[in-house]
Parts: sequence; C-alpha cells; structure tokens
Amino acid sequence: MLESKKNRREFLATVGAAGAASMLAGSAGAARSHGAEAQEQLAIDGGTPVRKSMLGSRPYGPQFYDDVEKQELLEVLDSRYPFRWWGGRSKALKFEKTYAEHIGVKYAIGVTSGTTALYTAMAALEIGPGDEVILPAWTWYADYDAVILSGALPVFAEIDESLAMDPTDIEARITPRTKAIVPSHLQGGVADLDPILEIARKHKVYVLEDCAQCCGGRYKGKFVGSIGNMGINSFQLGKTITAGEGGAVTTNDPKLFERAVRFHDVGSIRAPYTEELKGGLLQGFAACNFRMNEFTGAVLYGQVQKLDTIVTSLRANNRKVREGIADLPGLKLRKSADVDGDLGVTVFLTWESRERRDKFLRALRAEGIAASGPGGSVVLPRDGRIEGKRTVHPDWPSFNTPQGKAIQYGAESCPRTIDILDRTGGVIMDPTHSDEDCQDIVRAIRKVYLAMHTA
Ligand SMILES: Cc1ncc(COP(=O)(O)O)c(C=O)c1O
Repeated sequence: MLESKKNRREFLATVGAAGAASMLAGSAGAARSHGAEAQEQLAIDGGTPVRKSMLGSRPYGPQFYDDVEKQELLEVLDSRYPFRWWGGRSKALKFEKTYAEHIGVKYAIGVTSGTTALYTAMAALEIGPGDEVILPAWTWYADYDAVILSGALPVFAEIDESLAMDPTDIEARITPRTKAIVPSHLQGGVADLDPILEIARKHKVYVLEDCAQCCGGRYKGKFVGSIGNMGINSFQLGKTITAGEGGAVTTNDPKLFERAVRFHDVGSIRAPYTEELKGGLLQGFAACNFRMNEFTGAVLYGQVQKLDTIVTSLRANNRKVREGIADLPGLKLRKSADVDGDLGVTVFLTWESRERRDKFLRALRAEGIAASGPGGSVVLPRDGRIEGKRTVHPDWPSFNTPQGKAIQYGAESCPRTIDILDRTGGVIMDPTHSDEDCQDIVRAIRKVYLAMHTA
C-alpha cells in the first residue's frame, strides 16, 4: 500500500500555516499552503466549491472515434457483406490480428461480448460438470455465469486492497476438482499474477485472465491477457476501447485456440484458421455461434489502433493526481500489484471505516468532483440469484454434485471483500481530462482530506 512517509503530526509541524507552498510547487496545481488549505471551508459546509459544474468521466473509447472508425464502417456498408466469412476481406479478422499483435499473443478470436468470450474460454479449457473454478468474490456476473453455463461449480476467494483476488486466499480453496482460477483485473488494476501462476502450476490448474476492465493493462511488462493459459476481453461501452458490444478470447496454445474457434463458430473451423492450424487437429463438437460481425470488427479495428493513446493519457492524468496528493499524511492509496501497468482508471483511497469513506465522498462531490466507491462489479456471493443458487433448470449440474449441494454462498462467505469495498473510494479518471481538470481533482481531494484530518 502506498502510504505517505510522514505521520500527521510531523506533516503539520513541517508545513505550518504558510510554509508548504514551495514544497508543493510542481505538483499538479497544488502550490498552496497546507495550512490555508486546511482552513478552507468545505463546499458541503457552505464554502465555495472547487468546481461549479460536476467533473465526471465518460466512456473512454467513443471520445476517440474519428475518421478511422468512420472509414472502416463505410467500407463494410459499401461491401454489403457485414458477415465476416462472406465477402473476402474480414474486418473482424483484421481486428483479431492487430489485437493479438498488440498484446503479444499468438491467437485472438473476436466474439460477441465478454460474457460469450468467457463461456468460449471455459469450453476451450474443457470445464464442465464436476469441475470447480475459483473466482474473486467481487467481479462481474459474467465470471460466475460462464462457470454455471459450463455446468461447473463457482468457488469464491476474497479480494485484497488492490480490489483483485487475494493470492493468499486461493490455495485453501483448491480441491482435486479445481480446473481453473479466474483472476479478474478490475477497475484498471492488475491482479498479482506471479503468485497465482505459481499456485496454478503447483496444482496443475489453468489460469484464465479476465481483462474486461483492464484492456491495455500490463503486469511486469507483459500485457494482461497474454500471461495466463487464456485471456478474455470485453468491448462493451464501459471498457477501454469499444464498439458498444464485443469481446475477444486470447491464447498462445494452438489446441485451446482451435477448441475456442470451434466453440464460437458452430463446431467448425474455417479458412484462414484451417491454414493457421494446418487443417485442424480436433473433431467438431456441439457448440454455439458467437461470431463477431463486420461492423463491430470495423470499429474495433479502428479502436485498437488508439489503445496506446488512450492508456497513455489515462496513466498520465492518474499520475498527475497521485503526485499532487502523495504528501498527504497517512494517505492510503489503493494497493497495486504493478503501479506502472495499472491503467490508471481510479484514484481510490482506503479509509479506516465506511463512515469516513462516505463522508470523504460526499464532501468531494460537493466540491464538484464525481466520487464513488468501487463500481462495475458486484459482491457476487451475496447476490440473491447466486446465494439462492438459481439456475435455468432445477437439475442443473453445477449444484447437483455433493459439493454443489453443500456449498453456501452469502455475505458470510466473503467478509473481507465486503469490508475492503466499504472502505474504498475516490475518483474515476478520464483520458481526456485537461491539466486544469486534474488540478481541480487534486485541489478537491487535498481540501477535503486535510479538513478531515485536522478537524
Ligand atoms: C470483469 C468483467 N468480466 C466480464 C464482463 C462481461 O463483458 P460483456 O458485458 O461484454 O459481456 C464484464 C462486463 O462488464 C466485466 O466487467
């Protein structure tokens, strides 16, 4: 956890009423004295807000739509072949190749969503009835649903202060039936993959990276989605790059690739995949149709070329804010397994209680800065349909094994996850924030934080 080096008393003694301006010069617009800052009346108490209108964030990808996406889309319209396998030159295929090259994997398959990408990956990994899959207790429904749709049993592990799966809470949950671990890289943060991969190797289980909320993130220099046995991504509107909907499955393993190709395309493989796989080694099996259409492929082909720009801007803005608040006494920023690889989506602080967190968020909002607790995911074990083990059919295999019958979900199964989420919150960043916007975020956080620590 990133903590400022000074304790509160040392800090206040150092800065005095007016002495801190020079100390802060150079940080994002925070060249003000701490003493003066601490005395400023908060907007929530009737003071002047830092901003008159609320500064929030917007979906990232569409802010970067331009003639590139337009041209790609027009070409699909003009071709009159929006189906990827008719008409010769596939945009979906171009997107797959570019995306695979970008993140450094041999194979990528475009699919209809992150959810169908997960289901496809589970099928590729031959996850089925009797198998168990370990998931973080806080992630999106799709991780759980894909396990259930595969007929397997979801087992939850607690998260830690990085908001990703706690590597120290995995091993005790492994049984002879465990087939895979799904570390989700959530809210732009990367899960600590090294210890997870070590556990997976020791117990011979797969690692499937869910990168839906961290497209473009890196762990120790490698792109997420290229490190585990398989990775998935989502290109729904709330993700780093987007076509409104869409997904991808990635792997370096030709057999897993072929199984994923067959599962997402009615059990078959077609050229050019047949050429890549030298004709294909496996037989077809009952499958689905999750093929990406050409309109989606066109937009994503444009978007993937902007992934670096979006991520670089997001990280730069995040750094400005972090540097502008780094000297605050006792500051606890969200833990990170790789601060340089983190996308920079959040500037989140961890508080000692939910009440303090909520007070901070309310005051920040009054200053004109949109602020919230962690979002975009759900504490799954306490969700009604999960706690009630409700499936589409009463005899669904997931809950008809002895382990499936015995397993109990509910809030009691993940107290640490709930506690951490309740105490965490802050600001969601945006790649198009100006310097001034970042300075306002810094000013507002400093103002509220110092008021809360000197009150
Ligand atoms: C972590 C995670 N996994 C999977 C998904 C599913 O993606 P989609 O909405 O494209 O089905 C999401 C969507 O928000 C997500 O956040």
